[in-house]
Amino acid sequence: MSTQATPRDILVTSALPYANGSIHLGHLVEYIQTDIWVRFQRQRENRCTWVWADDAHGTPIMLKAQELGLTPEALIAQVKEEHETDFRDFLLSFDNFYTTHSDENRHFAELIYTRLRDAGHIDKRTIKQLYDAEQNMFLPDRYVKGGCPTCEAEDQYGDNCEVCSATYDATELRNPRSVVSGSTPELRDSEQYFVKLSNFEPMLRSWMDSGKLQPEIRNKLEEWFEDGLQDWDISRNAPYWGFEIPDAPGKYFYVWLDAPIGYMASHKNLCERTGDDFDSYWREDSEAELYHFIGKDIAYFHTLFWPAILHGAGFRTPSAVFCHGFLTVDGAKMSKSRGTFIKARTYLEHMDPEYLRYYFAAKLNHKVEDIDLNLEDFVTRVNADLVGKVVNIASRCAGFITKSFDGKLSEALPDAALYQDFVDEGVAIAEAYEARKFSQAMRLIMALADRANHYIAEAEPWVLVKDPDTRPQVHGICTQGLNLFRVLVNYLKPVLPQLAEKSEAFLQCGDMRWDSTQEPLLSHDIQRFSAMLKRIETATVEKMTEASKQDLAATQTPAPTGALADDPLKPEITYADFDKIDLRIAKIVDAEHVEGADKLLRLTLDIGKQRQVFAGIKSAYSPDDLRGRLTVMVANLAPRKMRFGMSEGMVLAAGPGGKDLFVLTPDSGAEPGMRVK
Ligand code: 2FM
Ligand code: ZN
Repeated sequence: MSTQATPRDILVTSALPYANGSIHLGHLVEYIQTDIWVRFQRQRENRCTWVWADDAHGTPIMLKAQELGLTPEALIAQVKEEHETDFRDFLLSFDNFYTTHSDENRHFAELIYTRLRDAGHIDKRTIKQLYDAEQNMFLPDRYVKGGCPTCEAEDQYGDNCEVCSATYDATELRNPRSVVSGSTPELRDSEQYFVKLSNFEPMLRSWMDSGKLQPEIRNKLEEWFEDGLQDWDISRNAPYWGFEIPDAPGKYFYVWLDAPIGYMASHKNLCERTGDDFDSYWREDSEAELYHFIGKDIAYFHTLFWPAILHGAGFRTPSAVFCHGFLTVDGAKMSKSRGTFIKARTYLEHMDPEYLRYYFAAKLNHKVEDIDLNLEDFVTRVNADLVGKVVNIASRCAGFITKSFDGKLSEALPDAALYQDFVDEGVAIAEAYEARKFSQAMRLIMALADRANHYIAEAEPWVLVKDPDTRPQVHGICTQGLNLFRVLVNYLKPVLPQLAEKSEAFLQCGDMRWDSTQEPLLSHDIQRFSAMLKRIETATVEKMTEASKQDLAATQTPAPTGALADDPLKPEITYADFDKIDLRIAKIVDAEHVEGADKLLRLTLDIGKQRQVFAGIKSAYSPDDLRGRLTVMVANLAPRKMRFGMSEGMVLAAGPGGKDLFVLTPDSGAEPGMRVK
């Protein structure tokens, strides 16, 4: 008998991790939450598809690639492989893990943009943006640093403060400077593209009122409405790593435009392979369900921008957005120095993924609350519940069946009513899973496990087996125990798929669906029991936190001191970049003051041919000191028009400034025009 009506078509997504870093336990809260829900739906025989991807665009990824001397394409390919391996090893059952840097995503980003534009939802507007006049470029947020406008912390990026978490516009930074040239950026006019979010207010209000948002998120939305919906700048100036806007050369879609569209692109990519009907999920009147699992920090994007642009472009809106809180470890923010910033891979090198899956399940609910991984409680709970309660039932009963009853279960259950109680409890457990109240589901399951253990403890098969008169009763008791175990494992299957698989093999009962345990296994051959799950040792957890501290040491570079502390290095360049610079020995054939310039001298340099260069070295040298001496110059720098004339190169100088500025090279043996190696 099935307890389920017509199968539902459900499409699920998790938030897309950025393609510039490793997965850690904080990410895994969400992915494990999604996986449990998806596995539950499939076990209920719904058609549930889970698609996601790496979030592969944006300035941080461009900068990270530069830092590593890689192309962005190479970086995102490398990271995708690492992420996917971690996910598989955590037993995540996604249908597609794709990338936002894909043809499908470009297609949908362009389609949504052009539909929004044609429907009058895009506004082109000129705004002031920071411009680096030395490098002739507008500066993306991450290319500007300065003081936080809120807490005044120095050296913060142009989008948010790492000290106080304030978010702001780069133009609000105090004493901003360009990360590229070190110069002070100027404000220049720049044309940008905005989605007119206020056009969607009525639609967003009715979407929000459809009862599909958690109350905490709904309240947040109310606040945002009260503050007034701000138009959303979806464009960024070159240089940017992303998709160029079709009718706006040199302008790119902001990463947060194409990131959620990546959900569609990943699904499209999957449908191309499986032949599934993409449109039936995404058209405006779709009856399929669409759910996004996300962290509370990105609710704004998913509950305002995303439904607005979907609706504006003629697609369906999400059925619901499920927000979760953040992970703390031992009651505090994950900390690299305490070893509680644990990467997925470091965890896997020490422990079974099912321990963490169970622990998170035991903590997660439908609310937007933070959850805590208390490492001591983790050890205690996993050992007590999974090893002590669940697996213990099988290990207590299986030996008797194998040794005394030829590996065959009895023909009837001695306590059919108890078995029926276990089956009936499936309704409440399913409701809890469906509502993402996983902690409640785990409590209900563990209460059943307690009852099963109590039954066995009372029946004492190990006593009965010793007396030939009572020995036949042992068959029924252990059959009862193993059947109760099977129901428990079935209910735990979304959380512990590996334990379920081992149990299915042991009980020879095939792939269990939610309704598979409605009837007990009777007169049925089983396999010999072998250990299914080991206890966690506290020492193993300690080794993992130690290893996490070492992960940190391996990636950490010492904090800069001296001049570097005030004037950080520019982004790393490759050898190929360096090799483009042509450094030559130059003879200073003439040097003279420049009328009206405080710092500059006009130099005439000879490198086999003559060059005029303006150098800011007047504080350290008088023209007479320089004539006839040798220096080093950048000989292939594009000429620059300055107020006093053309400057055709650059003289290399070292020193703090003032009188201490060293430009001369020892004269012995060096010939003008010689290459400097
Ligand atoms: O906050 C983040 O980590 C983003 N990469 C999440 C993107 S989710 C979606 F919109 F693509
Ligand atoms: Zn701050």
